[in-house]
Amino acid sequence: MINRRRFVQYASLGLGSLNFQSFRGKAEAHKPLVLSTWDAGIEANKAAWQILGSGGYALDAVEAGVRVTEASQNCCVGLGANPDRDGIVTLDACIMDEAGNCGSVAFLERIKHPISVARRVMEKTPHVMLVGEGAQQFAVAEGFPLEKPDLSPDAKRAYENWLKKSEYKPAINRENQGHGPFAPNMLDNGEWNHDTIGMIAIDSKGRLSGSCTTSGMGFKMRGRIGDSPIIGAGLFVDQDAGAAVATGQGEDIIRICGAHTIVEFMRQGMHPEQACKKAMERLLKVKGIEKAKAIQAGFIAINNKGEYGGYALQKGFSFAVCHAADKNFLVNAKPLI
Ligand code: GLY
Repeated sequence: MINRRRFVQYASLGLGSLNFQSFRGKAEAHKPLVLSTWDAGIEANKAAWQILGSGGYALDAVEAGVRVTEASQNCCVGLGANPDRDGIVTLDACIMDEAGNCGSVAFLERIKHPISVARRVMEKTPHVMLVGEGAQQFAVAEGFPLEKPDLSPDAKRAYENWLKKSEYKPAINRENQGHGPFAPNMLDNGEWNHDTIGMIAIDSKGRLSGSCTTSGMGFKMRGRIGDSPIIGAGLFVDQDAGAAVATGQGEDIIRICGAHTIVEFMRQGMHPEQACKKAMERLLKVKGIEKAKAIQAGFIAINNKGEYGGYALQKGFSFAVCHAADKNFLVNAKPLI
């Protein structure tokens, strides 16, 4: 079960006083900062901070950070995660830098670090996105080892449970099925399970970057792809405005082009938290309140001044904020419903 760490009540920080007033001054506009989704973000942020804290590049930081989560065997990201309904783990990831360069992979099997393959797509091909067999072929050609197609013990147990009914009632990486179609991914103890790690960062030179990686919805239809590898939906970065990343029900995040929408709101001058809230309101409007109660979504954002914020559809979404080696903490995002 999720081991909750020290939380900072986001509400108590308040808009415009995010302990980062100094970011507003031009002199400290380039104070590095990294944000990532869910509790697993704490460990991921530590790896990112090793790069950011020593003056490194935001793009390197967001790749290194989420690789920690991809390598973890007890998280809903990477090869240890829940499989699709045919019992196969398929992974999606994308990455984007301050210059609008981006790379993405989707429906990728047997590769431990899809985020690094996404970066190679960005840097070594004329394309943005590779999927399935082609993405795997490219990864192998680039020297990524092809891992054994074994499920992790946790995923195997969850899949075997799911197979007892084999009902197609997908919920985002929820192991405890059976509460109706597109059931909430709320665990029996009231916690929300998480499905994705998204990370955004600003470095000491003020450069923004972002990354996003996931195994997607547990027991999904074979071939299903969510928002996470879709540039503009799961992740978007624009140096003139800010960076945003999404987690949660991918289909609904795609419907509102979540991350891009948030960045455009920041471009209009909204604070990152307001921008995330406004995008979440749009998601709620499109989904409708009754259906929205059955899903979760979370957004986080940083603007190019280093101000940050997040917003959730429902209670239970946390994100990790790190701005120093000893300042890495979880924040409870405000919920819309
Ligand atoms: N947000 C991850 C997914 O829906 O696949």
